[in-house]
Amino acid sequence: MAIRNLRYEGDEILNKISREITVIDDKIKELANDMIETMHKYDGVGLAGVQVGILKRIIVIDLYEEGTQFVLINPIIIKQKGEQICDEGCLSYPSKFGKVKRPKEIVVEALDLNGKKVKVKGKDLLAQALAHEIDHLNGKVFIDKVEPGTLENVKPQQ
Ligand code: NI
Repeated sequence: MAIRNLRYEGDEILNKISREITVIDDKIKELANDMIETMHKYDGVGLAGVQVGILKRIIVIDLYEEGTQFVLINPIIIKQKGEQICDEGCLSYPSKFGKVKRPKEIVVEALDLNGKKVKVKGKDLLAQALAHEIDHLNGKVFIDKVEPGTLENVKPQQ
């Protein structure tokens, strides 16, 4: 396992669309483990492949509660319901925070690391995290969706 370098604001890779994963090989498994380690290092609740420079449709999530760590390959949103206004940030924009409208509930279909089809149902923070990370796979970042007037710049702590 290894910490990967994060891609930050201004890096045009963040606006690119990630490609489907067709074979889940050892390289993908290593990538997934590295992404989890990298997310944990920076106290994130989610990370997409593109944020470590890999344009492949893979996301990891961890809400730091039992049963909330996921590795999802080729995730697609098959259902969404309701709305919530979320306080949001992103590891690629470490000094920016804002309010973003997200679905209140979401159902995602994906493959797990064994290539098995899985369905993840999330609400509240899990719905937010899933929507945010899947946006990354489509080259979309939260600052494009931020509610007008709510974007804050916070100076990084020394
Ligand atoms: Ni993000």
